[in-house]
Amino acid sequence: MDTAEIRRRFVAHFEAGSTWGQHTVVPSASLLLDDPNLLFVNAGMVPFKPYFLGQETPPYARATSVQKCVRTLDIEEVGKTTRHGTFFQMCGNFSFGDYFKEGAIELAWELVTKPVADGGYGLDESVLYPSVLDGDDEAVALWKKITGLPDDRIVRLDRSENYWSMGVPGPGGPCSEILIDRGPQYGADRDWDAGDRYLEFWNLVFMQDELSEVRSKSDFDIAGSLPKKNIDTGMGLERVAYLLQGKDNMYEIDEVFPVIERASELTGRRYGSNPEDDVRFRVVADHVRSALMLIGDGVTPGNEARGYVLRRLLRRAVRSMRLLGYEDRALPELLPVSLDKMKLGYPELETGFGRISQVAYAEEDAFRKTLQAGTQIFDLAAQEVRSSGQTRLAGEKAFALHDTYGFPIDLTLEMAHEAGLTVDEEGFRSLMTEQRERAKADARAKKGQHADTGLYRTVLDEHGPTEWLAYETLETESRLVALFAGGAPVASLGEGQVGELVLDRTPFYAESGGQAADAGTLEVDGARLEVVDVQRPVRGLVVHQVRVLEGELAADGNAAAVHARVDPEWRLGARQAHSGTHVVHAALREVLGPTALQSGSYNRPGYLRLDFGWTSGLTAQQVRDIEQVSNHALRADLPVSWDYMTLSEAKDWGAIALFGETYDDAKVRVVEIGGPWSRELCGGTHVEHSSQVGTIVVTGESSVGSGNRRIEAFTGLEGFAYLARERDVVNQLTGLLKTQPDDLVGRVSDLVERLRAVEKEAEKARVAQLLAAGGQLAAAAEVVGGVHVVAHRADGAGGGDVRTLAMDVRGRLPQGEAGVVVIIGAADGKVSVVAAVNDAARERGLSANALVRAVGPLVGGKGGGKDDVAQGGGTDASRIDEALALVTAEVARTAGA
Ligand code: ALA
Repeated sequence: MDTAEIRRRFVAHFEAGSTWGQHTVVPSASLLLDDPNLLFVNAGMVPFKPYFLGQETPPYARATSVQKCVRTLDIEEVGKTTRHGTFFQMCGNFSFGDYFKEGAIELAWELVTKPVADGGYGLDESVLYPSVLDGDDEAVALWKKITGLPDDRIVRLDRSENYWSMGVPGPGGPCSEILIDRGPQYGADRDWDAGDRYLEFWNLVFMQDELSEVRSKSDFDIAGSLPKKNIDTGMGLERVAYLLQGKDNMYEIDEVFPVIERASELTGRRYGSNPEDDVRFRVVADHVRSALMLIGDGVTPGNEARGYVLRRLLRRAVRSMRLLGYEDRALPELLPVSLDKMKLGYPELETGFGRISQVAYAEEDAFRKTLQAGTQIFDLAAQEVRSSGQTRLAGEKAFALHDTYGFPIDLTLEMAHEAGLTVDEEGFRSLMTEQRERAKADARAKKGQHADTGLYRTVLDEHGPTEWLAYETLETESRLVALFAGGAPVASLGEGQVGELVLDRTPFYAESGGQAADAGTLEVDGARLEVVDVQRPVRGLVVHQVRVLEGELAADGNAAAVHARVDPEWRLGARQAHSGTHVVHAALREVLGPTALQSGSYNRPGYLRLDFGWTSGLTAQQVRDIEQVSNHALRADLPVSWDYMTLSEAKDWGAIALFGETYDDAKVRVVEIGGPWSRELCGGTHVEHSSQVGTIVVTGESSVGSGNRRIEAFTGLEGFAYLARERDVVNQLTGLLKTQPDDLVGRVSDLVERLRAVEKEAEKARVAQLLAAGGQLAAAAEVVGGVHVVAHRADGAGGGDVRTLAMDVRGRLPQGEAGVVVIIGAADGKVSVVAAVNDAARERGLSANALVRAVGPLVGGKGGGKDDVAQGGGTDASRIDEALALVTAEVARTAGA
């Protein structure tokens, strides 16, 4: 049964309904769901978390989904075991306070054991073993009742196996898994931990607890019960696929294996003939697919967090191909193969493939350069090791190669092996561990910032959602619902104090979708408050952050009647900026093509910025074109309108849905400018006609991390103000240079050229002066033991000058006689030492290298070189004279004076 069919049957089973009711089919959320605790969505339940916790009311009592997931903790295990895939799909059914253990067990067992002809998976009961949390007698009884299995077929496991949580504070509960016995060739009888023999493929979580702390799988604190008893199940789609397809592991299923086949064609090596190669093939297949899915959801390679995971996946794939003997660009050969399979379940991959492939291929090209640079560094290091008569590359070297050049350790190991060297792997690993510990500490620090939304949830539960009127009006008569300061309820706020305030209804726009929060005031009898920020910390609840400008606000007094008023000027500016953002986005796509897609945006009155996926910098012409297309769209006075529709209607309509946004409401809002010219899913406030944006002045374009660019612009009156400032600058310059604006560039470039010529002259004069000093210095050489010695201090001279002078002086010393020159310069807090020793002096055992090494410590630095010329630097100018005296002493000693 192919993967698509397994997926289809799962959804159909739960959609159809049974005695337990129908399930609403919910599409997979983006892998990048915004949860501060998670890098990627890693389980089917993640998008439903607020429902389990009771933070939000689910729009359905039962749901089913096939959720895209990424787990990267086990990245090193990929390919070595049968089970570790970085990308996988979790089929799940969910009950939010509806059915509990009995429903979950019955529904799962039915689908798993129902004959294939009847729409099930047709697994043989005799090889299935349900597991439960030791002590969960209720689950044992239900399993026996529903399946008729004898007691000894129900496996009792401890908390580390059969209690499920997200690994971080949140919902959790005892669970029950279905294991399949794959036969004695995979392990001993009833050895439940052997992993490969008794493979668990479906996890039924009886989600009933709220965890406040999770230290490990078996060590956590249960803070209390969830408001309701829920069900969260996860069936590993890839696991079931390889069981039903008679394969040995998830890399050989129909959705993954074609990449292995292509890799085998390219490398000329056969999958299945060498265990080491097989691991590499599997890494390639897994990582190529994961990278495809991650880029598809908007991740671009980078050095942190999500971007870093993607970078590692891509690099490991490329690297594994090299280890398989393929040195050409590999991704253009492999990514399309993965696309061919994955687009069946995720058609948006095909439309986005231009962008996706561009990002992936650019990363491969960059990595190939890294490999080249790293190889040179490696060769140098290897040479050093050999010339010092050793055979072991230091751990720090391997670590530096890894850390600075992104050079993977296995590559270093292999190349060292080829070069007849070993590597201090232990040293390398301990440095890696140190680094990892640091990273973990960082991650923990980040988790700590998880905001406590409990307070807001209570308000929402008690008073219901805020009546939100931002689209309808700028002023409302409202009533105070809650007043907080410092994270706790307060009875009043006095003049100058800040606090948070919830109203029964509000005209204020809360920051979202890139649009900044509205500014404005709240007025009550005897007090006036400024609204500083507006947020929606839990869905449905608008919270105003306020400062009391005058008077006092009392929760039980004057707050009964609040006049809320959005600053109309502010809102107009906000609408201009937000519509302007859509216009620039559409213009961008017109100029650069449809692969340029927004990855983030921010706008406030007068200003907008838009980040978009693009791998190279824009030319000045492209930026001008974008600005021009934008302003033409304003002048065309295009109508702006918005409408509500289902997500699939919006997609059919060509509306652009941005990555990472989740739309689980029945209807989405689509904002349209000029008909199909610009259609975006958006909840922001907009002007009615494009001309109301006033103007769009693009001020810059820059890089924001790998594969992402940012364009910035001023809108409305701010645009004119910006141009006026530029005009002022031009006026000042024309006044200063006594010229006309059109001649300004010519005049300034003339000036720059003349300045350069003058600087050159000045430089020549300086060198001439320096060299003139050279003559005097040579003439004044002191003779020590028959050696002419010049040891001179050159204040104000930097490294280059010091060297020029030293070489010059050495050339002026008497021909054929021994001569030693050491010049020490000090400029800008830096000390430069140059020693130059002629042939005759070298014959007498004097060495420039030895002299520089001798004086180095005195000037707080080091250096060296050859016997004839050596150079060094330091930071301590206080002992230069001492250092020079040391030179004379050294010469005397060596020359035997
Ligand atoms: N949330 C459960 C899991 O990920 C089903 O295993």
